[in-house]
Amino acid sequence: MTSALQGRSVHVWQIDAREHEADALLPLLTADETVRAGRFLRYEDRRNFILGRGLLRRLLGHYLQREAEQIRLCADQDGKPRLQDGAPLEFNLSHSGDRIVIGFSNAGAVGVDIEAMRPVPDYRRLARRLFSAAEQREIDHSEEAIKLATFFDIWTRKEAYVKMLGTGIDGDIALYDCRPGPGATLAISKGDVRVTTLRLVGHRPEPDYVSALVCDSLDANVAVFTLPAGGEVPDRDRWREMAETEGFEPSIRL
Ligand SMILES: CC(C)(COP(=O)(O)OP(=O)(O)OC[C@H]1O[C@@H](n2cnc3c(N)ncnc32)[C@H](O)[C@@H]1OP(=O)(O)O)[C@@H](O)C(=O)NCCC(=O)NCCS
Repeated sequence: MTSALQGRSVHVWQIDAREHEADALLPLLTADETVRAGRFLRYEDRRNFILGRGLLRRLLGHYLQREAEQIRLCADQDGKPRLQDGAPLEFNLSHSGDRIVIGFSNAGAVGVDIEAMRPVPDYRRLARRLFSAAEQREIDHSEEAIKLATFFDIWTRKEAYVKMLGTGIDGDIALYDCRPGPGATLAISKGDVRVTTLRLVGHRPEPDYVSALVCDSLDANVAVFTLPAGGEVPDRDRWREMAETEGFEPSIRL
């Protein structure tokens, strides 16, 4: 199976949902997904679900050099979407507000989370329930004006971690201490025991959003892209042309 990801790489795609037409992507969804899309009560949730699944297939098609219509997804026991044929490409997606983020990796498992920062009146209580003692101290020691932002920073990296594992948010989440280490790393401990060290890509696509991606590889090349309005993934020649004429370079290369 060929993949357009070169070397050991992680690509992060940032998507502004307002710039894409959800209904145009409906034909890419399975019957089950279409039913699920119809159950959302809020317009934004329906839009984000359709765009997430549709653009995920487009981008998977790009990396696997297949038509998006040929991409078959399944879910593992805790619901993490996977490629049905087991092709060696890891991915994960997240949506919040008007933003979608999708991460792809050929260098180990990935998990992503994005959150629109919003008032959370009981964030201290949530932190006591869901965060480790050290994570709670990080909030306590941050300045009053950035306490909520610190809460979301910690939240996104923890959620990205459990999404990388595929377990999602379960009873163990409070036991994990997920703390940034030197050189864009995330050190994971459970109690006093160091579990692992991961690559961390923290990103603020807009001031009101916070996003984190974690990858089970410390040596991967990481690049962050913004999907052009309309959602066409540029092919190689077009990509080069856009890089020269429109500055379509990765916004961040780490
Ligand atoms: C999965 C979970 C972390 C999503 O969190 P969220 O903040 O609501 O949503 P996000 O936008 O960040 O992520 C949602 C996406 O993560 C992916 N996802 C779903 N389950 C996942 C899992 N277990 N691990 C990793 N990714 C998962 C999906 O792509 C999903 O979006 P989509 O359904 O629109 O394609 C959260 O719902 C959870 O932990 N649930 C508990 C596990 C669960 O109930 N599983 C269902 C049993 S089948």
